[in-house]
Amino acid sequence: MIPFSPPYINDDIIKEVTEALRSGWITTGPKTKLLEKTVAEYVGVQHVLCLNSATAALEIILRWFGVDENDEVIVPVYTYSATANVVMHCNAKLVLVDVNADDFNIAVDKVRAAITARTKVIMPVDFAGYPCDFDALNSLVNEPEINAQFTPRTAEQKQLGRILILSDAAHSLGATYKGKRTGSLCDATAFSFHAVKNLTTAEGGALCLNFPAPFDNAAIYKQLYIKTLHGQTKDALAKTQKGAWEYDIIEPGYKCNMADIAAAIGLAQFRVYESEIEPRRREIMKAYHTAFSNHPKFIAPVFETTDRVSSFHLYPLLVKDASLQERNAILQRIFDQDVSVNVHFKPIPLLSYYAGLGYKIADYPIANSLWEREISLPVYAGLSDDQVQQVIAAVLKAVE
Ligand SMILES: Cc1ncc(COP(=O)(O)O)c(C=O)c1O
Repeated sequence: MIPFSPPYINDDIIKEVTEALRSGWITTGPKTKLLEKTVAEYVGVQHVLCLNSATAALEIILRWFGVDENDEVIVPVYTYSATANVVMHCNAKLVLVDVNADDFNIAVDKVRAAITARTKVIMPVDFAGYPCDFDALNSLVNEPEINAQFTPRTAEQKQLGRILILSDAAHSLGATYKGKRTGSLCDATAFSFHAVKNLTTAEGGALCLNFPAPFDNAAIYKQLYIKTLHGQTKDALAKTQKGAWEYDIIEPGYKCNMADIAAAIGLAQFRVYESEIEPRRREIMKAYHTAFSNHPKFIAPVFETTDRVSSFHLYPLLVKDASLQERNAILQRIFDQDVSVNVHFKPIPLLSYYAGLGYKIADYPIANSLWEREISLPVYAGLSDDQVQQVIAAVLKAVE
């Protein structure tokens, strides 16, 4: 069976993790700090906070910005539940909008139509690793008429003076928009290092801080470091220093720090990310593209255009004119040929919790039509050329 997305593990990763295990320090410490620096340099920002998930990174920014039951947060309907769940955690109103038919990303005209005086945050998702239209989103939140209706309550909201853009870049580490990497394209960005992602720490995430002046991103980093560690003024490593046992709790914070064992996996993965992992993913997508882009039964996804390059995370193939039943039957026939495939994503209104809240898929016709026809093919560095051909053959056979 060809698996869908096994993690990339080499001897160097095992060595780095073993080193952490033998070092006498396994939770947040030097390796996590080094991973933060590595991500910051790679992405092109000054301040990155590593946490135990992208979900935690997204939620901590909503909390820091003071999002609560008075507020609305705009989220694309075509995403993983994490993007919506964090809005529910804050008791804010989840405002779902439809996506573009060509790249599955949030439709900026639909965002514009959804903005009200209560909108505090927009959370675009770089679906499959292909960046959203950040120029359009950034200029939208800076438009005078949009700004005029923004009603800040907290000090952070007053200081920003406009809607915050919080990028859910769970899929898009390394992707570029007009030559700049995701993470540096808006106010704050969350990457996921979950086991199935391009670069993994088993579970983990990174939060890139890129707030405009007069915000002090170094000060925000310090504030969030404490907020994600119970509100404790000293981390566990600092407390182990001679005589430094005493600490204070300055707020009822959260507990979502990254452990050095996890960071060790990420550090070693970074050493081969640009030389091996990403180029191999790109090669695989190009092979799929050759097979499917001119085929009458498929619509191949975009992953490289003049202004944007994907991180090559997912290959979301569409089966032309397929009904949901036909797509499901095709999926089964692919599995029956020992090839694992997947579907990204079941839109939020189709999940029973959100359906129960009254969200209706009929309000999002593009997302509905995309998901009914979508099949994600396996993409990972360990997939051999023969296996890529096996996947292509299985898909072609299943459709015929
Ligand atoms: C679009 C999207 N956002 C957020 C997440 C959450 O990432 P994590 O598991 O690191 O919290 C995922 C995970 O799959 C995702 O696909």
